[in-house]
Amino acid sequence: MEFVIREMKEKDIPKVQDLWREVNIELTYSDKHEELVKMIKHNPELCIVLKDTIEKDIFGAVLGGFDGRRGWIHHLAIQPSIQGNKYGTFMMDELFRRFKEKNVVKLKLEVLKNNKDIIDFYKKLGWTHRTDLTTMSFTLKK
Ligand SMILES: CC(C)(COP(=O)(O)OP(=O)(O)OC[C@H]1O[C@@H](n2cnc3c(N)ncnc32)[C@H](O)[C@@H]1OP(=O)(O)O)[C@@H](O)C(=O)NCCC(=O)NCCS
Repeated sequence: MEFVIREMKEKDIPKVQDLWREVNIELTYSDKHEELVKMIKHNPELCIVLKDTIEKDIFGAVLGGFDGRRGWIHHLAIQPSIQGNKYGTFMMDELFRRFKEKNVVKLKLEVLKNNKDIIDFYKKLGWTHRTDLTTMSFTLKK
């Protein structure tokens, strides 16, 4: 099978949500359809999917967002049947290229403690594991 990367469109959202569920990414308020539409509209070049060229099914997805200072990466997922074939790396490389095109200086992402094995994947891509930081959040809307 051959795969290509393209920008995420609104019509992809249900399949992307299914993919996230399949790989056990917890979906929150921010992953509701209307919220994802907002994200895509705000960052059209940074939210991308991996699709096969024949059936045009979604096999991978990742959300990138630029807040004016940092680039943020959320919910990278590769369909389990094709994991381990460097498609995760392929999607991250493409996202790096797109962030670079926007002159973004630094990228950040968060890893849940129950998914900490994934840190090795990011380290192989050159990410630094910051152990001097902890995360805080505040919910404005539920
Ligand atoms: C993380 C994920 C996107 C990686 O995609 P992938 O296509 O399987 O990864 P790649 O084939 O590009 O892997 C690149 C390297 O990272 C390693 N790696 C991949 N997943 C790993 C994991 N879960 N733990 C440790 N190492 C991992 C690979 O073994 C490979 O190592 P190598 O270069 O020495 O051969 C995929 O496993 C996935 O969708 N996981 C579930 C969702 C998830 O947890 N997302 C991250 C949210 S923070």
